[in-house]
Amino acid sequence: MAKKDLFEKGFDESTKIKLLLFRKYIESWIPTFIHSSPFEKILIYDFFAGEGQDVYGEKGSPLIIMDCLKQYCEDIRNKNKKIFITLNDYDKKKAEKLLALTQAFKEKCGACNHCSLEVKNDAFQNLFSAEYQVIKQATPTFLLIDQYGVSQVTESVFRQLVDAPRTDFLFFISSATIRRFKDNEGINKKIKVSQIQFEESKPYECHEKVYNYYKTLINGDYYLGRFSIKKVTNYYGLIFGSHHPLGLEKFLSASWSIDVNNGEANHEIDETKQYEGSFMNLFDEVSGISTFKTKLESYEEHLLDYFSVPRTNQEIYKFSLESGISIPKTVDILRKLEKERRICVEGGDKRKSGAFYLSHNSDKIIKVAKNENNKN
Ligand SMILES: C[S@@+](CC[C@H](N)C(=O)[O-])C[C@H]1O[C@@H](n2cnc3c(N)ncnc32)[C@H](O)[C@@H]1O
Repeated sequence: MAKKDLFEKGFDESTKIKLLLFRKYIESWIPTFIHSSPFEKILIYDFFAGEGQDVYGEKGSPLIIMDCLKQYCEDIRNKNKKIFITLNDYDKKKAEKLLALTQAFKEKCGACNHCSLEVKNDAFQNLFSAEYQVIKQATPTFLLIDQYGVSQVTESVFRQLVDAPRTDFLFFISSATIRRFKDNEGINKKIKVSQIQFEESKPYECHEKVYNYYKTLINGDYYLGRFSIKKVTNYYGLIFGSHHPLGLEKFLSASWSIDVNNGEANHEIDETKQYEGSFMNLFDEVSGISTFKTKLESYEEHLLDYFSVPRTNQEIYKFSLESGISIPKTVDILRKLEKERRICVEGGDKRKSGAFYLSHNSDKIIKVAKNENNKN
């Protein structure tokens, strides 16, 4: 008997987390372009769209995109935007089911001429190559690449994604497969993962290692994010990319709303806490005080070191994104440090109390430095 696929079995918890993160991101991406972008056109591609929903009616990525667009129907018309949605699956039956499911949306939105939706039935490689000239134009574009496994976002596809100037992307990858088969010739023809050093790392860190590999392929001002997803004993994950810091800001905001402690996973990122039995390794044996630092506690220390030199709000904004910390979390820490007089804030004559102006387009400049007189 043929094995049931994820649509027939019903989405599991790890798929639901992936979809929740996608929903949160796309819900914040769409209004940005509708309300504040000078561009008339917006393109959305879901290259591995599936059939639209699982057997229990749980919405998959294509229906999530439509849900989000429906919320902004009036604004899309008022602002005279044109949204082009391409949904694709190489499985003919799935593409047909998707077409049936999207018909109502197509008819309603086709009628007002602002959203156009197409369902395609092609292999990713073909469709991506055929559409690349369009994707590469300076039109705001979002790509979802929800592949099975690891093989579709090859090094060359990744470079093409990064070369597209106004494209944000989110792709899924089985990081555990890369860890297990990193020296496999077939995989290495597509992505040169044999160079990743997994030996010293724990399995739960494998998505971070894969993300670091993709980071080596970019240069200049480009923003990458990650989110690790554990399914039973295996680790998968999402990789996000954007040319614009606001893209990563929104991705991090979505990630931190799901993982409120670390903003990066649906599992513990330091499982030593759980698995190393004795808690003595986490406590100073003499004082009995915990020596374990949470991610945010370590980040607070890094921030203080960073402020050994005065830093502008724009620099702090980028530092926060590059550290994988959402902007509200950084602001919380800055407020705490200011209250404890561990930092000094200069230059903001008309600065509002507690404001740090961390945004990609702030017109205020302030500087933050470590308070060297406070030795605590
Ligand atoms: C993980 S599922 C997608 C789930 C979907 N994004 C959702 O949220 O409901 C992957 C889908 O990609 C399709 N697929 C696999 N390889 C493909 C390829 N090379 N090109 C296009 N579609 C492919 C499969 O038929 C399957 O429906």
